[in-house]
Amino acid sequence: MNLPKTYKALELREYSENKNSAQIVEKTIRPLKKGEVLIRMHSASINPSDLMFLRGLYGIKKKLPVVPGFEGSGQVVSSGGGFYGSYLKGKNVACTAPGRGDGVYAEYMITDAFSCLPIGKDLSLEQGACLYVNPITAIAMVDLAEKYGAKAIVQTAAASALGKMVVGIAARKGIQVINVVRKPEQEEALKAVGAKHILNSEVSNFERQLRVLSNELKATVCLDAVAGELTTKVLLAMPYGSRAIIYGALSEKEIPIHAGMMIFQDKKLEGFWLSTWVPQQSPYKIWKLSKELRSLAKKELKTDIAARFPLDKAVEAIDNYAANMTKGKVLIQTSFAEGK
Ligand SMILES: NC(=O)c1ccc[n+]([C@@H]2O[C@H](COP(=O)([O-])OP(=O)(O)OC[C@H]3O[C@@H](n4cnc5c(N)ncnc54)[C@H](OP(=O)(O)O)[C@@H]3O)[C@@H](O)[C@H]2O)c1
Repeated sequence: MNLPKTYKALELREYSENKNSAQIVEKTIRPLKKGEVLIRMHSASINPSDLMFLRGLYGIKKKLPVVPGFEGSGQVVSSGGGFYGSYLKGKNVACTAPGRGDGVYAEYMITDAFSCLPIGKDLSLEQGACLYVNPITAIAMVDLAEKYGAKAIVQTAAASALGKMVVGIAARKGIQVINVVRKPEQEEALKAVGAKHILNSEVSNFERQLRVLSNELKATVCLDAVAGELTTKVLLAMPYGSRAIIYGALSEKEIPIHAGMMIFQDKKLEGFWLSTWVPQQSPYKIWKLSKELRSLAKKELKTDIAARFPLDKAVEAIDNYAANMTKGKVLIQTSFAEGK
């Protein structure tokens, strides 16, 4: 394939709530360094972390201007050398953006070869675009809950893409899940993926329902993506010695801590972040994980795609996703996805 000299990308010029801070620009393809690959992007997903990044509120801040977007999929069209990069050439891959420099909301992206997972021909590039961030986090956190000896898990924001994956992965391990949502339509979405226990945090006797069920099922680990008062309510209702693993802050609120909850009920709070978890894993664990991702990709780790927007309309795509998160992921796509 003949590579173009330039390509289109969404460029962020300022961390801000302002939509005009990101615009489509023309960029030049730079020479590759050893270990890097050039990917012709097909699809890129939008996650809560991308929304926070655009506003300058995420745990990663890159030097501006920069192309945003953390995960996507495409075809490796060139390699800067090195065994793995050369092996990937011509392959369809799920990929993540480098820790520094431009991300996935573009026609082309350069990243480290080890940030790519070949997906073969039987998994679509659309599913490949959602195969890293949520699936690995869901697998890692259910493993962690199992390590803590939980017979059951409570999870908040349970109708999220990640929450639905937790339902499937936990079921494979025989771990029950108490799913906490805030809207009736989210209850339906969870039933569709086989969830058994669903509680709505907005009903008046929610805390009582959760106390009874979490004690009955021995749910001693909570996977919490909401933070704020909900975390305290949920942890207070859970059995003695329970722990909340905070992995998201969708409410953007602080968690009010009651000292008595920690002292007299031995409750614990801790955080989880994929960006620190991955580098702590052994090469064997990462290899095992990549096999698990591929084998569960079509069922337990399947992501619902709600909408697709061309790269030119990336800002609209981001708005659309932020307003309709429960409906499914919104993909930003290039002409590659149109078969061109
Ligand atoms: N720590 C890590 O390494 C890591 C990795 C991956 C994902 N995450 C986190 O995992 C969470 C889920 O990600 P996702 O991509 O699966 O999300 P998603 O599919 O976009 O879904 C987000 C869900 O959260 C709900 N929600 C939003 N604000 C809420 C609030 N204040 N209270 C209760 N529910 C709320 C939305 O429902 P509504 O319609 O009710 O708004 C929606 O169902 C996010 O917090 C993300 O940052 C963390």
